[in-house]
Amino acid sequence: VTENLKIGIAGLGTVGAGVLKILGVSGDLIAQCCARAIDVVGICARDRARERGLGLAGAAWFDDAIALAKDPTIEVFIELIGGSDGVALDAVRTALAHGKHVVTANKALIALHGAELGALAEAQGVALNFEAAVAGGIPIIKALREGLSANRVSRVYGILNGTCNYILSDMEETGRSFDAVLKQAQELGYAESDPSFDIGGIDTAHKLAILASIAFGAQVDFSHVHIEGIEYISANDIIVARELGYAIKLLGLACRTDQGVEQRVHPCLVKSDDAIAAVNGVVNAVVVESDQLGRLVMEGAGAGESPTASAVIADIIDIARGLVLPPFLRPSEFLRSEAVAPMARHEGAYYIRLTAIDRPGVMAVIAEDLAHEGVSIDTIIQRGAERADSVPIILLTHQCRESVMVKALARISSHDVIVKPPRMIRIEQL
Ligand SMILES: NC(=O)c1ccc[n+]([C@@H]2O[C@H](COP(=O)([O-])OP(=O)(O)OC[C@H]3O[C@@H](n4cnc5c(N)ncnc54)[C@H](OP(=O)(O)O)[C@@H]3O)[C@@H](O)[C@H]2O)c1
Repeated sequence: VTENLKIGIAGLGTVGAGVLKILGVSGDLIAQCCARAIDVVGICARDRARERGLGLAGAAWFDDAIALAKDPTIEVFIELIGGSDGVALDAVRTALAHGKHVVTANKALIALHGAELGALAEAQGVALNFEAAVAGGIPIIKALREGLSANRVSRVYGILNGTCNYILSDMEETGRSFDAVLKQAQELGYAESDPSFDIGGIDTAHKLAILASIAFGAQVDFSHVHIEGIEYISANDIIVARELGYAIKLLGLACRTDQGVEQRVHPCLVKSDDAIAAVNGVVNAVVVESDQLGRLVMEGAGAGESPTASAVIADIIDIARGLVLPPFLRPSEFLRSEAVAPMARHEGAYYIRLTAIDRPGVMAVIAEDLAHEGVSIDTIIQRGAERADSVPIILLTHQCRESVMVKALARISSHDVIVKPPRMIRIEQL
């Protein structure tokens, strides 16, 4: 008879509590899946006195996550504290160094320290599993690491942050401003009180860096991701985009180019009839394009107590079954330090928002500047005045190189008639 798997959980917040609840209600199912039961023998959080209603009597309490990480009674250390550095990093390093398997939901930790931690896990012959770190409950790491392991991936992209997707979907549905929708999202608990990681695209970038590493055999490197957030998207952008047959989504996209691996997070115009445009609210979706399978689309809950805990427990079950894989699919020796494909060389079409003084001849000036740089226009829309003295002008361009577009916008903004910095949203061919 195989012995029960003994685990220690550090962090009893949303995800930690979810893990304990599922182990409670589905312990029999889980024990059948892995032919052994899972015992929580140690737990740790910041505040021991907090009433958590989790029935924790059987587990030893640890004030210090690092002490739990190296405690001889545990075989698996579950890190659900959060943060890229500090105690989470120290505790995971300690657990791996002591030959414990590690499961974490911490995307910031894996995006910033995954290369080091993955190599350490491999050297120790233990698992480092992080399914919950990317797209919450969607089993995309498992899909890439196992189901698609015989595929060469050409592109991976998705909606990886539910907060941003909720805000953009609500703006589209109600026509309200970014600030108004963000405030409501905070009231409903969909956005943190400090939402900067979400709306600034950083959370999406953490997840994309992890996906790109597994998909392209690159060492995970967060600094390689180009990041823009959704803060500058206006209600009017969304309305105009819709009239033109597009939705605006914050996407994380990674693909291999001649220049290296391109990893970028930014708002995109996507065709309204594309599957990704129909993903609304806090839902996440990931698309993988590969040589043998073609296109794979996975959609589901990207966060929340139960979906995230479900992914954490799937990782624990793998360990209970004795499955230990290289964390980033390929053993560390095969993970390359990839060149970064520069955004200046990116090719695409653009949605441009200009704000100009309402005066004859303005359009001619803009058209001349674009022609001078070789940018050709697909569509121009001029709307009623935003203020008495200025009008928004929306342009859709044909494909061009990003460096050319940026140069053309610099030229346009140098004219006195342009009263606000131009805004550029990439149009994505999916
Ligand atoms: N929430 C989600 O939907 C979600 C989805 C995917 C991934 N994740 C990731 O999962 C991780 C946990 O997120 P969460 O939402 O569960 O966070 P949370 O609700 O804020 O919980 C954090 C837990 O860590 C404990 N903690 C904080 N500092 C500690 C320390 N120095 N030593 C020991 N314990 C400490 C806290 O203790 P107290 O309870 O005593 O304060 C709390 O129990 C993060 O990496 C997050 O990015 C979360």
